[in-house]
This record gives sequence, C-alpha cells and structure tokens, in this order.
Amino acid sequence: MPSGRYFGFVIGGGLPAALAADWLTSAWDQNAGLYVGGPSASVVEQVVREWVCDLLGLPGHASIGFVTGTQMGSVTALAAARFRVLDRQGWDVSRDGLAGAPPVRVLVGDKRHVTIDRALRLLGLGAPEVVRADSQGRMDAAALRESLLAGGGPSIVCAQAGEVNTGAFDPLEEIADAAREHGAWLHVDGAFGLWAAASPQLRHLVRGAERADSWITDAHKWLNVPYDSALVLCADAEAHRAAMTISASYLIQDEARVVRDQVDWVPEFSRRARGFAVYAALRSLGRSGLAELVERTCACARRFADGIVELEGVELLNDVVLNQVLFRFESDERTDGVLRTVQEGGEVWMSGTTWNGRRAIRISVSNWQTEDAEIDLALESFRRAAQVPAQAPAR
Ligand SMILES: Cc1ncc(COP(=O)(O)O)c(C=O)c1O
Repeated sequence: MPSGRYFGFVIGGGLPAALAADWLTSAWDQNAGLYVGGPSASVVEQVVREWVCDLLGLPGHASIGFVTGTQMGSVTALAAARFRVLDRQGWDVSRDGLAGAPPVRVLVGDKRHVTIDRALRLLGLGAPEVVRADSQGRMDAAALRESLLAGGGPSIVCAQAGEVNTGAFDPLEEIADAAREHGAWLHVDGAFGLWAAASPQLRHLVRGAERADSWITDAHKWLNVPYDSALVLCADAEAHRAAMTISASYLIQDEARVVRDQVDWVPEFSRRARGFAVYAALRSLGRSGLAELVERTCACARRFADGIVELEGVELLNDVVLNQVLFRFESDERTDGVLRTVQEGGEVWMSGTTWNGRRAIRISVSNWQTEDAEIDLALESFRRAAQVPAQAPAR
C-alpha cells in the first residue's frame, strides 16, 4: 500500500475512514445499480453529490456518477457531450448511432491525458484536433479560439485542470469563454487538480471550471480513497442521463425519479457501492481537513523543489503550482541513473517521464501521510544518489 514516502505517478493512499468504509462495502456486498438493491448506497451518493458540488464550486444542480477512474469518467462525460451536441443538430445518437451523423469535432490540448483519447476512441469520435500547449503543458486559449473559428458544427472542447507531469492548469476562464461563444460542450479533466478548489489558497487555479458542462475527478488520487473510485459530474443532467440510462422489464426503477437509480448515471450495470468510501473520506476530513490535505501536500511539493534545486546539475522544469515537481539532471543518462539509484535504495519511490523530448523525474505528493519528514528523506536519497558517479551506458 502506498505510504507517505511514495511519490510515483499520481497515487494517493487510503484514509483510515475510507479504508474501513471500503471493507464494509465488501462485507455489505450490495449491488449498487438500483436504489432497490440497497437504498443506503444510493442515498450516500446523493449526499456526496451535494458535498462535492459545494467543495469544488460546481453548479448545485450537477448530476453525478461514481465510476472506476477518470478514464471511465471521461467516457461517461463525453458520451453525454456527444449526445447533447448531436441532439442540438436534430440527431438522436442513441437511436441512430454515428453513421451519417453530423461530424463531431473534439478539440484537446497538446498535453491532455491519454485517457481522453481512449474515451474518444471508445465513443467512435476518432482522434481529436490538437491545440498547442505552452512549456508547462497549458492549452493555448488563443490557438483554441482560432481552431474553433476555422470550423463549425457540433464541437466538444476538453480542458485540463492539473497536467500529470507539471500540475499546470489550462486557462479555464478563457477556454470557457471560447467554448461558450462557439456553442461547444466544455469538458474538464481534473483527475487530481480539481481538488485545488477545496483550498481557499489554491482555488484561483480552477477559476472558470465552474462554467464547464462536465467534470471528472478521481477520488483514488488526492482524496485518498482506496482504488478504484472517481466522480463524473454533468451540468446537463438530462444529457448525462440520456447517455447512460437503460431499463428492462424485470428491473425496478423509479419512473418518478424521486430516488436515485445509479444505473442511470454510469456505464456499469451491476456495480460496487463506491459511494460509501468517498462519503467516509469527506466526512472524516471535513471541509477544513480537505483544505489542509491539499495545502500541506502542495507545501511539501514546494519544499521538495526548493531542496532539489540545491543539488548540482538539477534543473527544475515546472512552476510548482500544485503537488507535482518535475526536474532533471544535466543529461538523460544522469537523470535516469540517479532515479534508478534512488528507486533501488528503497526508502522512497517516484517515477520518470519524458518532457519535451528529454528525460525527467516526477514527484507527486498525493498521499495523506506525507509531511516534511518524508520530503526531507526523499531529498536526502537524491543527495546521496547524486554523489554516485554516472555509469557509462551498457554496451
Ligand atoms: C489529468 C489526468 N487525467 C486522467 C488520468 C487517468 O486517471 P485514472 O487512472 O483514474 O483513469 C490521470 C492519471 O494520472 C490524470 O493525471
């Protein structure tokens, strides 16, 4: 289980209350597809919906689905987007499919997460149009505007709150303006970055996100809910429901929609009651505990960045705006070599990446147990590893 000394990918831990709730979820073993299969699972999802809209500053009427990860969240949200943008053209994609439909344009930033591409592939929308990004991985809003102007028709824009390497946020306000002017559906991938909204100090980073049509964020990353768990939200609840709902004569669904049948909001049919662990995480942290978790881990990332640049040959590659630190040593060989030495040392773990064509090391501070001591341990591991002379590459 990841500990406070684990800085790989973007991986959180399990808050004690969330872990206990997850165990109970298995013990209770409800099929949380329908209200009738276990009303508490359905009610808990409704409660979490209200809390999350409030904490993340999203419209209070947004609908929610509890899915396995941001990957399936993007599939869900983009299915809703596909439904709505085609519906506006008088095309019913649920009935008539995509053959002969007006082409749907999807615009993404150059540094969007790969899960967006897979979601589009699964939905039959093909490869997206790529808008250039800056050195931090932020979509260029002016370039987006130009692309939107250059073509018409039903359009979807995918923006990002928190780039996986740098933690950078797309300029969401400008992107929301451009999307609105062109009648495009705006989807925000905030797998971890959306939680910045829960912190009064960091909230400014997500300004504009509240104007999107759909959002996706993981609970299994920064919220420290055990795998697998993510939330997909839609401002257009009708599109969300239309894209997901399914019924059969033997099912017992609430036609009056007084209670929540989870099958209406997610691609799964039978499913785990994921809401309990998310509920427990939020209930145990509270508003101030969540802000503290987000702010402390970001402060830890800054502490690491301040320490690592003291080492000879280190170049910091990102503005440390969130919980991610990206850096390299003077060559690709040295970068990979130092990283390998640290990983093999076994005290801390983090992973590498390629950023703008060069090897780099990424630190993600996402675990609820990480404090200054763990950061100092990581810095010490790098200090020691950096003293080991670079080995000649194997022939
Ligand atoms: C920005 C972003 N989007 C999507 C994902 C994929 O999330 P998941 O693995 O929960 O599907 C990640 C994972 O790190 C991410 O950082």
